Amino acid sequence: MYFLIFIYVILVFYTFLVWKYKYWQTKKIPFVQPQLFFGSIKEVVQGKTHFGVLFRDYYHKFQSVPYFGYFKMREPAIIVKDPELVKNIIIKDFNSFANNDFQVDPQNDPIWAQNVFGQTGERWKKNRHAWTSGLTALKVKSMYDDINAKCDVMTEYLKKHTENNPNEPLEARVLASKLFTDIIVSSVFGMETNSFEDPNNAFINITKSFFISTFLDGIGTYIFMVAPWLGNFLGLRFVSKRVENQLMEVAKILVEKRKKLGLQKTNPFDNLLMNGYKKDSAATEFSTLDVAGLIFGFLFDGTETSAGVSGFMLYAIAANPEVQTKLRAEIDEAYKLNGGKLSHENVYDMQYLDMVFQETLRLYNPALIMQRLCTKPYTLPPVSTAAKPFQVPVGMTVIIPMYALHTDPKYFSEPEKFNPDRFTEEGKSNIQKGAYLAFGDGPRICVGTRLATSQLKISISNIIRNFEVRLAPQMVNNPIKIDPNVFLMRSVDNLWVTFHKRAL
Ligand code: HEM
Repeated sequence: MYFLIFIYVILVFYTFLVWKYKYWQTKKIPFVQPQLFFGSIKEVVQGKTHFGVLFRDYYHKFQSVPYFGYFKMREPAIIVKDPELVKNIIIKDFNSFANNDFQVDPQNDPIWAQNVFGQTGERWKKNRHAWTSGLTALKVKSMYDDINAKCDVMTEYLKKHTENNPNEPLEARVLASKLFTDIIVSSVFGMETNSFEDPNNAFINITKSFFISTFLDGIGTYIFMVAPWLGNFLGLRFVSKRVENQLMEVAKILVEKRKKLGLQKTNPFDNLLMNGYKKDSAATEFSTLDVAGLIFGFLFDGTETSAGVSGFMLYAIAANPEVQTKLRAEIDEAYKLNGGKLSHENVYDMQYLDMVFQETLRLYNPALIMQRLCTKPYTLPPVSTAAKPFQVPVGMTVIIPMYALHTDPKYFSEPEKFNPDRFTEEGKSNIQKGAYLAFGDGPRICVGTRLATSQLKISISNIIRNFEVRLAPQMVNNPIKIDPNVFLMRSVDNLWVTFHKRAL
């Protein structure tokens, strides 16, 4: 009897796992074969391959189709290849794909629930508006002196380091993470840190704790990436309780400060609080949790993405001496023409710097994919002349495989080569629309584009002006391998570079 019940339970469970596996076959749409329990993402589940890299490999297997299906464990989902369709999904037909597929239960994970990225509907609109009005071009420009001052602190640190420990390499992403943390803490939170002198300050520690997760945190994060419904069902969190506690501690300090001094309209963070939370100008109706959520947004959405790009940019500049020589010539010329000091405009006017920046965002974008959820029924054109149009049902995950598009030889010749020359004015105009999505596009385009661009360009100009950067010996002939266990793009190996002071 017990044996029969056991067999029955196993059969029910097995049917539950596989009953959707015929989905793409019945729709006559090419798809990646599923494997029991894992669906089409076994290598991701096993921690062997980054999901962005796996989707790139699938993308190349399905030649000459505009999209194809796969299974996100047991759920059918879709990967869109055609840049025209990509544009429609993220821009023109946004209303059918208004949400990112990364929503958590606010009871389980109150910090992530505060993040614009995972928000939906009116709450998303309101908070997104708060972010965009806190980070306008004008507000970011007004941070220029602050950003520069923090770059000077880094330059002094690097000078001391090269004097005391010549040829001792530094990790490029970690260096940038320290700098961008100090910039955000000062220009946005209105506090002071010197992460070069005090690498264990509260803000740096939050980022470290978030990325150095325990085994259980790791499983939670992974489940949210592949099956948010399961994460919510199991009561898992994307932001662990430990990180939440650390955030709440610093949030308390920020709230107290604002209660004493009031909100400053010119400060991006205060602006966010005014537009996003505060109901009238006299009251301070935001909670410590609101503030903790915002701090997390700045540290994770803002600082770690920018630090990743900066680390790879420095690595690519060190690995390509001809790029470095050309970039330095442009930077030196700009300093010369502007009396030895650059303004915000001068930094934006440097064309080659922008080309190096864009090429870094193409090859080393922190976001390897965009993951949308269908929010309104939508019809995709037939995959082939023999097929019918496909009705995307509400709730289906739609993947925009950014990394695959950015490294497709159809759109970028010799895609693995770091070649800023593809971003000349003429080169840019020839890039297929929808195939290059540095900061995303449409109503969910990155709200931090300006801030990221400014802090990256200013800091790289500073470094290249003052130092020659070289790959540390262990980096030579050691191509980048993408870390499968971090959802943003990170290298498995550290990005070691050495700094050599220039005589100016
Ligand atoms: C080089 C650095 C950065 C890169 C490459 C980057 C890239 C992106 C991308 C690709 C998206 C998704 C867009 C989409 O889904 O269409 C995004 C969204 C977002 N980014 Fe950034 N980002 C960077 C820096 C920043 C900074 C500095 C901030 C804020 C301080 C920020 C805040 C956000 C937020 C809040 C969203 C969600 C927007 C929404 O869903 O409405 N990012 N970013």
